[in-house]
Amino acid sequence: MKKNKCVVVGVTGGIAVYKALDVVSLLRKNNVDVRVIMTKSATEFIAPVTFQAISQNLVATDMFSEPKAWEIQHISLAKIADVFLVAPATANIIGKVANGIADDLLSTTIMATKAKVIFAPAMNTNMYNNPIVQENISKLKSLGYEFMDPDSGRLACGDEGSGKLPQPNDILQKVMCELYDKKDLMGKKVIVTAGPTRTDVDPVRFISNRSTGKMGYAIATEARDRGAKVLLISGPTNEEKPYGVEVIDVITNQEMLDVILKEYDDADIVIKAAAVADYKAKEYSCQKIKKGDKDLEIELIRDNDILMTLGQKKKNQILVGFAAESQNVIENANGKLKKKNLDYILANDITLKDTGFASTDNKVTIITRRGQEISLHKMSKREVARNLFEVILEKR
Ligand SMILES: Cc1cc2nc3c(=O)[nH]c(=O)nc-3n(C[C@H](O)[C@H](O)[C@H](O)COP(=O)(O)O)c2cc1C
Repeated sequence: MKKNKCVVVGVTGGIAVYKALDVVSLLRKNNVDVRVIMTKSATEFIAPVTFQAISQNLVATDMFSEPKAWEIQHISLAKIADVFLVAPATANIIGKVANGIADDLLSTTIMATKAKVIFAPAMNTNMYNNPIVQENISKLKSLGYEFMDPDSGRLACGDEGSGKLPQPNDILQKVMCELYDKKDLMGKKVIVTAGPTRTDVDPVRFISNRSTGKMGYAIATEARDRGAKVLLISGPTNEEKPYGVEVIDVITNQEMLDVILKEYDDADIVIKAAAVADYKAKEYSCQKIKKGDKDLEIELIRDNDILMTLGQKKKNQILVGFAAESQNVIENANGKLKKKNLDYILANDITLKDTGFASTDNKVTIITRRGQEISLHKMSKREVARNLFEVILEKR
């Protein structure tokens, strides 16, 4: 059986300690084995038993406590870690590590680990901006330690500014990305489009479609985890922005085209998962169209064919499209692949239940330029994304 990944979480004495409970809980939900080390100050805020219950492991707090196993705790914890996370990270722990101080269990274990160490700092704005703290952070970064940028907003002390612990879900994503084994898109620029576009009819009405953006967001997240620099061009969706991915929000077909053309030349892979409107209203009414007794006709005209444009301008990019079809799925998708000069197309039958728009699963056939058809069974959109990159990178 595959062993679960292990994350050692160092918890230090900041007011954001309670949020670290969420981080540990999220990691557990993602089947990560979590070992918590708390500093003495951290135990002033929350009792170790809480972390113990949530991590489902004993919590280590003291270097000289009665051993519960034969191992030397700081060495065994240092070795077991696939990733080492310090959240919240106080000014004190950052300063200690930056200056080689190992005077408690956490700082000693960090000194002994070969795992990637990620700090998620949380402190008062003035503390964070203090040049000593900033110098310590710079020094640690130059030595290969990772730092998440703190969030801004109202701090526990009442001040406004930078220094809040990053959102637990962002910390989770940062750690999961670090734990991901495949880094085969390192150095590549991947552009993904997602969601619907809208065409405005009047100041209160628009025409759009049922795309939720789930497929494109899953592809962007997969590309990020594999090490790519990802730009996600997103129509209006309710999906949470993936941490570590540059997101540009757009509304209309034209806006999506303008952004993608600016970024297209140096892209390595472009995946058009967005459901872009094919038609737009011929005339936009600046005033709200009043209800009348007669029926209303809105004339629609063809809008840009973004995929076709990209196909025509293609140089070395790998261009991937989607074909959401309700009939002759494979045939229509094949036609689109050729007509638009694509390298791959993902065909999905939108008449199937529990797949396609709005659902978390999808059932697709990947068709390659050379005419190969790879039919995938029903799987999560994230798994579809994983398979897609395996095909693009010619690993399956
Ligand atoms: C109520 C309270 C809140 C604190 N919040 C923070 C904080 O958010 N960030 C920080 O760096 N220090 C904070 N401190 C100060 C640290 O607890 C102190 O620097 C301590 O020595 C840190 O020890 P540790 O790094 O070993 O956990 C706070 C102290 C108190 C009493």
